[in-house]
Amino acid sequence: MYPIIIDTDPGVDDAMAIAFALAHPEIELVGLTTVFGNVPVARATRNALALAERFGVPGLPVAQGAKFPLVQSPLPHPEFVHGADGLGNVNYDPPTAQAVAQSAAEFIIEQANRLNGELTVVAIGPLTNLALALKLDPELPGKLRSLVIMGGTVDEPGNVSPVAEANFLSDPHAADVVLGADWPVVVVGLDVTHKIILTDSNLMQLRDKAGETGKLLWDASRFYVNYYSNTGAASGHDEAGCCMHDAAAVAYVVAPELFTCISGPARVISEGVGAGQLTINRKGYTYLLKHWEERPAAKVCMDLEVEKVRSLFLDTIIQHKVR
Ligand code: BDR
Ligand code: CA
Repeated sequence: MYPIIIDTDPGVDDAMAIAFALAHPEIELVGLTTVFGNVPVARATRNALALAERFGVPGLPVAQGAKFPLVQSPLPHPEFVHGADGLGNVNYDPPTAQAVAQSAAEFIIEQANRLNGELTVVAIGPLTNLALALKLDPELPGKLRSLVIMGGTVDEPGNVSPVAEANFLSDPHAADVVLGADWPVVVVGLDVTHKIILTDSNLMQLRDKAGETGKLLWDASRFYVNYYSNTGAASGHDEAGCCMHDAAAVAYVVAPELFTCISGPARVISEGVGAGQLTINRKGYTYLLKHWEERPAAKVCMDLEVEKVRSLFLDTIIQHKVR
């Protein structure tokens, strides 16, 4: 079993990732931690609680996290991608449950200690909560089984600037801090998530065969698919579709063999025209080491078996639907 925490800013593809994790028989979702990003953090928490209820796990712990980035001013929330409510403007009823009293960072540390080396954190929003957790407990990297991050891009152009992916640009200082710590870390960024598109036919399968969960994902994805259609960001297909970014990070937890990775010391440019850019010292340069000294190696996914990852996602939600 893989006990995991999803650190999230729901988000339509975050909802896909949460549904996938809940459905997968080898994953035990021990809680959600929330962060600003696609929506303000209070809304992210409300969405996380509402999703837990709608996906049939109303008691799932949800811990609220960072409201703002570590250093930079907050970016505007991308209402044009996920809708003003973060879930495609479906405007679900408010949840009845409330967040736990602990902060996201405290909850991650508590669960890492409790699970004694078994916990995986799947971070699918800006990395602020993990940077804060590191500050509270510098030993945290040695206490996790793995950290899987959806964020960044190496060869593929960015989705919010020519070089930056949204989660990394939302808090580049945090991303650089997190990639400077010695976790067993894997980055699942745009180099792979831009290769895998969910078409409307795929989403219709969920709608028709995956109960309430599938219906929710269909409804919430209408706005998101429209964004992708209007911008051509999921082009190359005959029909409308969207990226499943965050769900690909969950796929890595249970099926890492479907991904091809490189490895090397990683940095995220914090400021200026290149802010948010992920850079890997993949050639192992040893001169001019100033900015690379003592940076541990991170794994970064560069390719994936598209059909297998897509089927893993769809089949899991259809066959093991929680609701
Ligand atoms: C990432 O940014 C967010 O909009 C998505 O939820 C995903 O985590 C993709 O760049
Ligand atoms: Ca996200």
